[in-house]
Amino acid sequence: MVTSLVKRLLGLCGRTRLRGYTVFGQKHIPMLRLLDELRRRGVRVEDLDALEIFGRDGLDHTTTYGGDVRSLEVWEIDEDRRAELEKNLPGASIKIVDSYEEIARSSKRFDLVVVDNAMGLYGGHCDHFDLFPEAIFRVARDECVLALIVIPRIDAATLRHFPELSDPEYLARRAAFYGVEDAADIPRGRIVETYRGFVERSGRRLDWSFLMKRSGAGVDYLVLKISK
Ligand SMILES: C[S@@+](CC[C@H](N)C(=O)[O-])C[C@H]1O[C@@H](n2cnc3c(N)ncnc32)[C@H](O)[C@@H]1O
Repeated sequence: MVTSLVKRLLGLCGRTRLRGYTVFGQKHIPMLRLLDELRRRGVRVEDLDALEIFGRDGLDHTTTYGGDVRSLEVWEIDEDRRAELEKNLPGASIKIVDSYEEIARSSKRFDLVVVDNAMGLYGGHCDHFDLFPEAIFRVARDECVLALIVIPRIDAATLRHFPELSDPEYLARRAAFYGVEDAADIPRGRIVETYRGFVERSGRRLDWSFLMKRSGAGVDYLVLKISK
């Protein structure tokens, strides 16, 4: 009864999900924690030019940091999302594009690049794997923070949220990307080393990294501070 009332209130505030948000659903708590950790490590969030590579309506976490950064550009493939993105992220530059095509032609560089991909096999791609080994670095300034979403362990809670992650083709692509046998349970250290390899092979350094829980469905943020 109380939960459904709160959900209705959140709905009136433009939110449809309850967990993971501050009261009235204005801020995404895991993203607030991520921003706190960046500041603790000396990153001046207010000086960052940021790119959100997969935008949807921005309500998941983009609205939480969009007002804190110096500038924000958002890419999204679905034209129907344009009006919501413009409403939810006033002042941001919204581009309705295929992000994989845009990243190949963009000449812009950013200080913060956030990759909040659709999960699993989607539109001919798989998670964010096709942004590696090289494409992602095309939009990174010499000093850059990359924030990705990763799923170390696919468990029952993960599959309740993302049943498509049991697809054998998805699991095979995931195993190949991270170089593991067991795609359902990848040690966090192995995940970090996979991205460190991409960073170093691109001629950059991994200055530091951290993982942070993003959701009860097993999704983490992986944050990589890279430099050239
Ligand atoms: C998980 S949602 C992003 C949520 C968003 N970051 C937020 O804060 O609300 C993933 C989005 O990626 C979009 N997408 C999927 N493939 C894409 C592509 N190739 N280019 C651009 N956007 C794409 C989907 O349409 C979807 O809206």
